[in-house]
Formats: sequence, C-alpha cells, structure tokens
Amino acid sequence: MDTDALVSEALSAVSDSSTADELDDARVRYLGRKSELKQALREVRDRESGITLNAARERIEAAVGARQAELERAELDRALGQEQLDITLPGVAQRRGRLHVITQVRREVEDIFLGMGYEVVEGREVETTHYLFDALNMAPTHPTRSPLNTFYVDGNVVLRSETSPSQIHTMEARKPPIYMVSLGRCYRRDTVDATHYPIFHQVEGLAVDEGLTLADLKGTLQHLLRSLFGPERETRVGTHFFPFTEPSIEAYVSCFLCDGAGCRVCRQSGWIEIGGAGVVDPNVLEFVGYDPEKVSGFAFGWGLERIALLRHGLPDIRALWENDLRLLEQF
Ligand code: PHE
Repeated sequence: MDTDALVSEALSAVSDSSTADELDDARVRYLGRKSELKQALREVRDRESGITLNAARERIEAAVGARQAELERAELDRALGQEQLDITLPGVAQRRGRLHVITQVRREVEDIFLGMGYEVVEGREVETTHYLFDALNMAPTHPTRSPLNTFYVDGNVVLRSETSPSQIHTMEARKPPIYMVSLGRCYRRDTVDATHYPIFHQVEGLAVDEGLTLADLKGTLQHLLRSLFGPERETRVGTHFFPFTEPSIEAYVSCFLCDGAGCRVCRQSGWIEIGGAGVVDPNVLEFVGYDPEKVSGFAFGWGLERIALLRHGLPDIRALWENDLRLLEQF
C-alpha cells in the first residue's frame, strides 16, 4: 500500500467535502472499520509499518477534525447572515391577555359571597320548561313562557332566561341550610339597546335556613352593594313581583352617569335597577319537599353586565360584546 498516496488522497477528499455529510463519507472511507488503512493496521506485524500507518491515521483524523470545525463555523456564519437573527436585539414583548371585564366582575362577586360563607354552584344554560317555569311557580300564562321572550330549543327545552333554576337544582340535591350563589349566562329575546343584550350574565343567590327573614336579605344585599360600589353610591329597594318570591323586591343603585339627575342610561329616573330579590315563596319550598313551617329563605338574581357598567361608568352594554381591545384593555 502506498501510504503517502493514500494520505494525500484522503486529505484532498476531506478538504473537498463541503457539507457535514460529505465529510462523514470521507471519514468512513478513509478511517472507517473497513477502510484500507484500518485493514492494513490490523495486519501490521512490524514496528516500522505500524509507525507509518499510525502517523497516516493521525494526519487524516486531524484533517477531519479541522475540516469539521471549519464547516461548523461556516454554517454558523451562514445562519447568522441569512437568518438575520440578531441575538443582541431585545426580544419582542409578548402582549399579555387579561380577563374580560365580565369575568372580573363574576370572580369579584364570587369572592364577596365566598367571604360570607356561601358556596358557588354550577347551573345549566340549557334548561327544561319544568325547571325554568313550573318549579319556579310561574303561572301557565306567565309572559316569560312565550317564545317571544324566551329562546326555545325544542319543545320543552329552553335557553334559561334567568339563573333561578339553579335554586331548584340546589334544593333538590340537598337539605337546608343552604347558602349558595350560581353565576352564568342567560338568554332573552331582548332587542339590543344601551342596557339590553340577548346574552347576559346573572348572579343567583339562595339562602335557606331556620328563621331567615326579609331583614337578612336586605343586610346581605346591602353588603354586596357596598362591596361593589363603595359608600358613595346610594341604594334603595322597591316592591316588585316575582312568582317565586313573596314578598318580592327590586334593588336600585343611584345612576353613575348623572348621579341621580336623570339621563338616557337611567331612563330619566336617576336610579338603575340592579335586579330582583325576595323571600322564597312557600310554594317553591314545598315543591322541592321542604317544610315552609320549619325553614325559610331568600333569593336574588342580578345582572353582571349592569354591575360592570356601573363599576366602570360605561354608558352602553354593547361595548362589552364588541371585543374592541382599545376598550377592554382598560380594565
Ligand atoms: N330571576 C329574576 C330575574 O331574572 C331575579 C330574581 C332572582 C328575583 C331571585 C327574585 C329572586 O329578573
């Protein structure tokens, strides 16, 4: 074997290879187990040719190593040039998302009630007329039953127009004492305007225990309103009617836009309705198998959108649904 010729052939193969793959091919050809050089080394019997062959192997190995380093540096140069990744540039800041203002209000209301020892229970957005109307003591002629007011999915399946069915589900599932809130979406066939939207959110609350009265309801609502709106906003309750509470009341907060003087948002009344409430009607308690002689309770159902509008002085409910980030990222 002509060692010198082999070495110079190997060295030019190494320096000719322009990619890592080509270099690897050359390495296998000249240094691999089946290469001429390795076969010859295996058969060496005398010291002289051992020295020659090992020197040849070392030269080729050194050339492969050097070429490999060259190729790697060239690849790095190419990547730095072509991909134009300047690692000294500051990174692009990630835009952080945020919770929608309704979700923020929802969580805040949950926290206020958790602080009073209430539990938060899940409701159902798709209900049956049984839970949405019958169990809530609504007369067969009650206008909410009309498909003009409530979205019917099919026959007696409806999109809930209020969170109140969660009262029935909760009472059916357990015995008093009950202190719960249930928050979520409701649907009504309302015409869109500054204070109405066909999809909205309510917080439903229900307390059933021995000896609960209207005074407990007033105190609870007062605490909620003070927590949400601070001491500056005035609150008042007025009489009302709901089929599932007796007596029924409606809670109002003084208008944030005009401070009570009268404007478009409060429909010139100076007050904004927050939502209904009342003492649970004995018929409802009987319906779920409770004894109205032993336990009593109160319930309320308020709109989260209204709370959000009031909290932030927003004049129009539609703004909450337009997903204009210029507005939403302010909260
Ligand atoms: N469900 C009623 C509504 O949507 C509010 C309400 C809830 C009233 C609980 C009384 C008790 O208007």
